[in-house]
Amino acid sequence: MNRKDHIKPLTVGFLTPFYDSVFKIFAFEKFYKKIASQIPPDKAIHILDIGTGTANLAIAIKKRSPKAKILGIDPDEKILKIAKEKIKKEKLDIKLIKAFAQKLPFKKQSFDYVVSSFAVHHIPPNLKDQAFLEMYRVLRSGGTILIIDIGEPKNLLAKITGTVFSLIESVGPNLRGFIPKALKEVGFYNVKEVESKFGLISFYRARK
Ligand SMILES: C[S@@+](CC[C@H](N)C(=O)[O-])C[C@H]1O[C@@H](n2cnc3c(N)ncnc32)[C@H](O)[C@@H]1O
Repeated sequence: MNRKDHIKPLTVGFLTPFYDSVFKIFAFEKFYKKIASQIPPDKAIHILDIGTGTANLAIAIKKRSPKAKILGIDPDEKILKIAKEKIKKEKLDIKLIKAFAQKLPFKKQSFDYVVSSFAVHHIPPNLKDQAFLEMYRVLRSGGTILIIDIGEPKNLLAKITGTVFSLIESVGPNLRGFIPKALKEVGFYNVKEVESKFGLISFYRARK
């Protein structure tokens, strides 16, 4: 697949080594912990992290649910290298694979949970629908999908921030409510926006 099949972690490739330093400024750690807290802490469940990046979410889940078998996918080799080093340093057992959300190399119903943080807006618009179909396919019946990303703005300040952000990142579809719509369209039920932070960052949860 070529470059148009994914948007780089910080939009331009040369910034990738600074990914974690930039994300630290936003103090997103608590968001990863919040998602991790929705996953059983003591079960050997299978979890797929879509657009794992530097594995921040995967690491937060593994620390809280040590028996979970976590697999992170991302198409970007540079970010996966950073993630691998982090996981090794933390002595955690998390598998990472180079793959695209729109073409997941797994059999149907392979995972109990599909999770994703700040990655949906990085999937190019023309491939997003296919990515959601794939997430649905690989999740087992009765499984749960948890997504955090930019969502529909809840107030004027969030609207302005979202509009400014859309000049640098491809967040337009998210701002227009793409995520809950796509979840419903591919067949998920009980689709809920469980929380919104700053009126702009949304936590979504749905069941298959
Ligand atoms: C903003 S980063 C988020 C990384 C990580 N989940 C986090 O919360 O720190 C977005 C990630 O989505 C990945 N990505 C872009 N296009 C993708 C695609 N088509 N399929 C899967 N991941 C993709 C990027 O390579 C990048 O690592």
